[in-house]
Amino acid sequence: MSDMVNIIDGKALAEKIKGGIVKEIAAMDKENAPGPKKPGLVCGRPNLAIILVGDRADSELYVTLKEKEAKKVGIDTHVYRCANNIPEREIFDIIDYLNNDDLIDAILVQLPLPDGYNTDGLILAIDPAKDVDRFHPANLEVLLNTCRHEHVIPPLINVVLAILNSINCGLAGRKVCILYNSEIFGKSLSKVLECRGAKCVMVRADNENFRKETGQADILVTAVGKPGFIKGEMIKDEAVIIDIGITKEGNKVKGDVDYASVKDKAAFLTPVPGGVGPMTIAMLFKNTLELYKENKKIINSNK
Ligand code: GUN
Repeated sequence: MSDMVNIIDGKALAEKIKGGIVKEIAAMDKENAPGPKKPGLVCGRPNLAIILVGDRADSELYVTLKEKEAKKVGIDTHVYRCANNIPEREIFDIIDYLNNDDLIDAILVQLPLPDGYNTDGLILAIDPAKDVDRFHPANLEVLLNTCRHEHVIPPLINVVLAILNSINCGLAGRKVCILYNSEIFGKSLSKVLECRGAKCVMVRADNENFRKETGQADILVTAVGKPGFIKGEMIKDEAVIIDIGITKEGNKVKGDVDYASVKDKAAFLTPVPGGVGPMTIAMLFKNTLELYKENKKIINSNK
C-alpha cells in the first residue's frame, strides 16, 4: 500500500518558476537586441552580485550552484570571493561600489559570515532597492507594516506561498504553526500569511508547549534544524508540512521531519532534499528579475 502523504516536488516547481524567468528574460533580450532600439531602453540582462567571505564548504557550494543555475536562466552573476581575513572595511567598499554601479540590480551577501564580521552592519549598507534577500531593515519594516507585499518579498517566504499555491491550499481561516529558530523569519512569514487570512502561531521548538500548537495546525512550517524532530504524534491529521529545516549530516542533507512517522498522517510534505532548497534559488532569481525591472525603469527615467 502506498503512503497517504503526497510529496511536493520542489525541484519540478523550481524548474517551472525558472522556465517562466527564462521566457521573460529572453523576451527582454530580444527587445534589447542589436539594431534600432525602442527609445529609452537600456541594454542588458539582470545582474546579480554575490559576496562570499571565507571558505566554508557549504557556502562555496551554494554560491557555485547559484552561479551555475543563474547562467541557465539568463541572469549574469558577479561573485566577489573574499579571503577569510579580509578587512571588514573592504567588504563595505565592495558593497558601496555595487550600490553605485547601475549595471548591478541585486546584491546578496552569502550568510553566515565568518566569526567577527558585523553581519547586521553589512546588510544595512546594501542599498534597500538592491537587497535581493529583503534582509535590510527598511525592507523588513515595509514587510511587517503593510499587506502590500506582492512585489518583492524574501525568497523563502515566496517559496512557502508557491508551495501552498501548488496544492491549492488556501490560507483564509487556516491555522498555521511556524516552528522557528529565527525570530525575524517567523515574524515575516506570519505577517505575510496573516495578510492572506491565515491565523499564525509562532513557537520555538524548545518551548515545552509546542506540541499543543503543532497538533492544531492545518499547515506546519518547521525551521528547527534537527533531523527527524517532527513526529507523527505532534501533527494534526491531514496537515500540510513544509520542511525548511536543513541540516548536513556527513554528506547527506536532512530535514526536520521524521518521514516514517508522518507518512500516514500528513496530507502533504515537502521533502529534504528536493523540496524547499531548489525553490529558494528559483525565488532568488525571481527577485533579481523584479529588481532588474525596477532598476531599468529608474535608469530610463533618468535619461
Ligand atoms: N545562506 C543560506 N541561505 C541564504 C540566503 O537565503 N541568503 C543569504 N544571503 N545567505 C544564505
